[in-house]
Amino acid sequence: MDFLTLAKTRYSCRKLTDRPVSEEQIHAILQAGLAAPTACNNQPFKIWVMTSEEALAKVKSACKQPFIQPCPVVFVIGGDPKTAWVRDYDGKNFADVDASIVETHLLLEIADLGLATTWIGHFDPEKLCELFPDMNGYSLTALFAVGYPAEDASPAMAHTRCRSEYELIKRY
Ligand SMILES: Cc1cc2nc3c(=O)[nH]c(=O)nc-3n(C[C@H](O)[C@H](O)[C@H](O)COP(=O)(O)O)c2cc1C
Repeated sequence: MDFLTLAKTRYSCRKLTDRPVSEEQIHAILQAGLAAPTACNNQPFKIWVMTSEEALAKVKSACKQPFIQPCPVVFVIGGDPKTAWVRDYDGKNFADVDASIVETHLLLEIADLGLATTWIGHFDPEKLCELFPDMNGYSLTALFAVGYPAEDASPAMAHTRCRSEYELIKRY
């Protein structure tokens, strides 16, 4: 599948099956994340991979909204403001920007593998840090619940609710 087709057909899938995700697939997803560009190539991020029942239950408990179930794997991604590039003009710290690029690479590799996920930003980062103390100090911006899409899974309404190109793109 060419890149534009992949980018256009990917959607947030909130109905997965319990079919396991293989170690090879997890490896490929992680490789895509590690290949992401970051400011000054500082790579100020960490990816946590949750596959044990205990870890998955803990992650689920840090989400208020009903968590996507079943889900064989969850990735948690955080940017590290301590090692991220800081722009000297205005002091802007690029940790979240860099983490978002890594997250986008993961998202698209997951789709390319025929797997499905949703970027979940609605979770409690403080609770997650209590449950996984090594996450302290990271800016946690995404959880990805990953698995095979259910047969009857389909995009939500928001997938096609798009603003006009006229509003989003300006050419000089
Ligand atoms: C930064 C970010 C945070 C998001 N957080 C959530 C979330 O907490 N829960 C959820 O169901 N979807 C979440 N989404 C998914 C978006 O709602 C979804 O990408 C958007 O509606 C477009 O739909 P599509 O991904 O199917 O194209 C998030 C997406 C992004 C990029």
